[in-house]
Amino acid sequence: MGVVSSSPIFSAGPDIAPSPSTKTDSVPDISNAPDWQQQGYEHLWMPYCQMKTAPLPLAVERTEGVYLHLSDGRRLIDGLASWWSACHGYNHPHVVDAMHRQLDRMPHVMFGGINHEPALTLAQRLAALLPGDLNRVFFCDSGSVAVEVAMKIAIQFHRNRGQRGRTRFLSFANAYHGDTTGAMSLCDPERSMHARFEGALLQQLNVDIPRDDDSMQRFQSLLKQNRDCLAGVFIEPLVQGAGGMRFHSPDVLRCITQCCRDNDVLLIADELATGFGRTGTLFAIEQADIVPDVICLGKALSAGMIGMAATVATERVFDAFWSDDASKALMHGPTFMANPLACAAAGASLDLFEREPRLEQARTIEAGLRELLAPCRQIDRVVDVRVKGAIGVVQVDSLDHVDRLRDLFVRQGVLIRPFGDCIYTTPPLVISAGELEKIGDAIVSATRQWARWPRES
Ligand SMILES: Cc1ncc(COP(=O)(O)O)c(C=O)c1O
Repeated sequence: MGVVSSSPIFSAGPDIAPSPSTKTDSVPDISNAPDWQQQGYEHLWMPYCQMKTAPLPLAVERTEGVYLHLSDGRRLIDGLASWWSACHGYNHPHVVDAMHRQLDRMPHVMFGGINHEPALTLAQRLAALLPGDLNRVFFCDSGSVAVEVAMKIAIQFHRNRGQRGRTRFLSFANAYHGDTTGAMSLCDPERSMHARFEGALLQQLNVDIPRDDDSMQRFQSLLKQNRDCLAGVFIEPLVQGAGGMRFHSPDVLRCITQCCRDNDVLLIADELATGFGRTGTLFAIEQADIVPDVICLGKALSAGMIGMAATVATERVFDAFWSDDASKALMHGPTFMANPLACAAAGASLDLFEREPRLEQARTIEAGLRELLAPCRQIDRVVDVRVKGAIGVVQVDSLDHVDRLRDLFVRQGVLIRPFGDCIYTTPPLVISAGELEKIGDAIVSATRQWARWPRES
């Protein structure tokens, strides 16, 4: 047994004074809610909200096409496609049928030592759709886990080649890569919601996206200086999502890729949000004509119908794990990885990308949003309006009255949830011109009203 030291192993950081508690007050009024919500709400812990002050969540009873039907009879156009995922709208019959058929045959079986047709066919189809030799698909059940798996792959890739010290990552300002602890360490350390975990996360490098020659040269030097420690660079290609809805050009993405190549640092493209048509091409990386070493997919992968994600690596990356040495294997395996039901949904979703003009629809949405959101440029407190594929963003100087603004959207019949400094929409790709107009009009009208409200101190 080792010698036990009498001094503490860890030292605590400075304590933060807790904010004073004022119990009772503003718990949301649930008296008009349906029974199931009245009875269940007090047993629930909701995501991303201070439940004490947040309004009662919308009670959704069913979905259909681009609509959410509420228990009080209203219906809302979903301007967010359930966090970028419902690319074909809700309950698309082709996806529903495929899932029904799979449900009868085999809803789930573990993947350890077992293969099944839905997963293997899906892996083959994804490999064929992805550029270059992104051929090796590791399935998991959520985007954050796909990011964690990519981190493990990158670290072990270098270890298996004899470089043990390459354990750190570089990610970009305004990045968002998920909510698990590894993924949190890749998010913008100051501006993201994970800033409150400062001191508790892995230390990574986080820098501004280089956008011109000078900053690209500095980026190149930074990679060079840190290459012995860096396992990989994480990027959300072309569009950074939940960290701030910032865009960069294909040229910038191409240069960053080259810097990674020059320094033998793995490039990991997080296409959880941008994948499957959202930016106008099936994958955003296609617009820069690059092949990352690893790509993370999810959300719309399974048509937004059921949890599923994947981490896909090139043959070069996989080769570093291919060995007679058992210790070089990837030790990861979520219980519900490659869930057959999710694979069936994903397979059916890929059918729809083949049979229906989704990418054309994304580009039509882009043209529509450019026109519809343009009047926001004239509104006080709006600092930028930008559109990329089926993503429309109105950036404001600072967002206040968030709950009131969200409610204003609901009263206009659309689900839009402004956050950070953005009022944005990522509608289902199947949205009609009329429904898109309703979203655009609601954003213009709500932003105008919001800009007239007295600033919240
Ligand atoms: C770019 C990006 N990466 C990772 C994630 C995390 O995915 P999940 O919520 O499925 O864990 C998200 C989710 O919004 C995302 O947008």
